[in-house]
Amino acid sequence: MIRPKKLEIFCGTGGVGKTTLATSRAVALASKGHKVLLITIDPAKRLKEILKLSEARAGKVETISSKVHLNMQDDFSFDALLMSPRETFKRIGGEKVIENPILKILTRPNGGMNEILALVEVDHHLSQNNYETIILDTPPGQHFIDFLESSKKIKLFFKKIYLDIFQHLKSGGKKRKFFTTLLSSGIKKLLDLLESITGAHFVTEFIETIGIVYNHKDDFIKALEVQETLKNKELSNWFLIASVDHKKISEAAEIKSKAASFLHEDNYFIINRSWSPHLAKWQPKESKMANIRTTLWNREREIMDFAEKNYINILQFGEIFSLLPEDQVCQLAKSW
Ligand SMILES: Nc1ncnc2c1ncn2[C@@H]1O[C@H](COP(=O)(O)OP(=O)(O)O)[C@@H](O)[C@H]1O
Ligand SMILES: [Mg+2]
Repeated sequence: MIRPKKLEIFCGTGGVGKTTLATSRAVALASKGHKVLLITIDPAKRLKEILKLSEARAGKVETISSKVHLNMQDDFSFDALLMSPRETFKRIGGEKVIENPILKILTRPNGGMNEILALVEVDHHLSQNNYETIILDTPPGQHFIDFLESSKKIKLFFKKIYLDIFQHLKSGGKKRKFFTTLLSSGIKKLLDLLESITGAHFVTEFIETIGIVYNHKDDFIKALEVQETLKNKELSNWFLIASVDHKKISEAAEIKSKAASFLHEDNYFIINRSWSPHLAKWQPKESKMANIRTTLWNREREIMDFAEKNYINILQFGEIFSLLPEDQVCQLAKSW
């Protein structure tokens, strides 16, 4: 069993098995009595299907029972959370802030604040310290890199220069009037134009949105701690996943290079949906079948050779011959 850490992150491109494997890891750890929270920050929400969760519960921690949700004989449980950017913002800002129309759009599942608020959500659960391990199922490709880099966005947004402008804005009495004096006439013209297109309230709402975000500056800044946890070998494990497919393997290499500044040596390259455990047991007599076996075997060997040249820690998870997600998860859980 790979030694569990405080935070475990599952990443890779689309469809390689991130959600399935992250859930199997939660099952593997929880079945040993470990206290686990599984969070998915992928708006695709496949976790919802696997664990039969309802959309209405997005943003709230659910307890998953091995017997009820996964049809298992053993009795244990773990917690799971479908990330909801809106619920996260409500938690830090209260019910009322979400009435702001621009924030309503920004906190939709793909509304632009998903990655930043995911950082805030993960930080919240890390700080609460209720779990031995938090497992993070991430969105594919660029969205995952955005998640890693959202700390940069936070730092930029709360730069002192902007903060100073905002302090002026807040103390400047009538906000619109202040804008008029502060900004050059070019920008004022632009804002007027914007307002003529978007309607009378847009600029006011826009300033209000910035205000709300600034009022919760501390929550956003504190979320930067997640980055420190991810960079610390004692506190995090990284699982970079590819399925047995040349294209997926090269896509994984691309993600690895983009995430390089965050990675420490406890990163594991997972080859998922591998046929070699099955091929090893299969000895066909007919030559046609034997040829198929050789072709598949060589394909995997090539991928393995590539992996061995480029990664230190390699894990293999076999193809599961069942279409039921709960069967896949439970069988994969045995390979940890
Ligand atoms: N080891 C496996 N054996 C068989 N099917 C798998 C395996 N891992 C994943 N799958 C299947 O592959 C598909 C994509 O898996 P998923 O976990 O949703 O990927 P991701 O989260 O990376 O997009 C699903 O249909 C899932 O059931
Ligand atoms: Mg997924």
